[in-house]
Amino acid sequence: RMNTTEIFDGVRFPGFIHTPESLKAACSFQFQDTDILLVTFPKSGTTWMQQVLSLIFCEGHLWPIHNLPTWARMPWIEQISFDSLHSKRNTSWPRLFTSHLNAKGLAPALMKSKAKVVYMARNPKDVLVSFFHFHRIAGFLPNPSSFEDFVDEFLEGTGFFGSWFDHVKGWLSLQKDLTLFFVTYEELHQEPRCTIRKLSEFLGRPLGPKEEDIILEHSSFSFMSQSNIVNYSLLSKEIIDQSEVKFFRKGRPPSQPPSKYPRPILGPFYPFFVCVCFGLVGWLVGW
Ligand code: PPS
Repeated sequence: RMNTTEIFDGVRFPGFIHTPESLKAACSFQFQDTDILLVTFPKSGTTWMQQVLSLIFCEGHLWPIHNLPTWARMPWIEQISFDSLHSKRNTSWPRLFTSHLNAKGLAPALMKSKAKVVYMARNPKDVLVSFFHFHRIAGFLPNPSSFEDFVDEFLEGTGFFGSWFDHVKGWLSLQKDLTLFFVTYEELHQEPRCTIRKLSEFLGRPLGPKEEDIILEHSSFSFMSQSNIVNYSLLSKEIIDQSEVKFFRKGRPPSQPPSKYPRPILGPFYPFFVCVCFGLVGWLVGW
């Protein structure tokens, strides 16, 4: 049961947390106009954005941040645990949900309401590496045979949760049809305050500078990775075993394109270095 696969609309899902019924129910979910749905491909910063969104709505009352796991604050609409968690939610907030489903599956249900969608994307190279390690620690996903095979599967889009490329493309193509805020892991990393400000304006919940400070502190990698409420250590080892690899693995800055200069030490002196080299070669060959 733990390690089974559910195929839904051509996409593989872990059967331990999804059933055909739960996936079907998600696709015909009745959204309300005030609902907020966070959508991501796995490992794109879901937990981080769940934390930011709950902080935006908790208006400085930090009880849920310290006591409710992210999956209880913002349940995944496609998971089998949804019904029970849904009834226990804090009802003073707008309804906040999470989903990893693709646009094709969820768009028809979403288009029947004015629910707001926050779509968070992360560059595929970091998603791939993070997802590879997650397969090693999640009991409901098979252990990858090798990194090379995992890369092939990722590029072909035959892995769990389908193709990263189709996911991002599908949701981006709905920008005109839905009330959708597109945000990237990288921009939240590079400009957290500005990104959170833009997000809160989109959500109709503008923040004061003090509130922004509270959100920044409680959504930082250092705070979240240490918090048992959000770092997934509440789950049993059978579900997520973090003894070798942590769920909050690196959270490091996004992959950078290769530096313009072959050696950082040369930095801005690189053009000068090239001229000297050419001069030397010219002198040697007697130009
Ligand atoms: S999941 O399983 O799909 O819900 O995973 P998800 O939460 O989408 O992604 C986990 C990765 O997000 C990183 N993360 C963060 N990075 C920076 N700052 C904060 N606050 C933060 N919170 C989570 C987490 O470390 C995983 O990335 P990797 O690269 O594996 O470290």
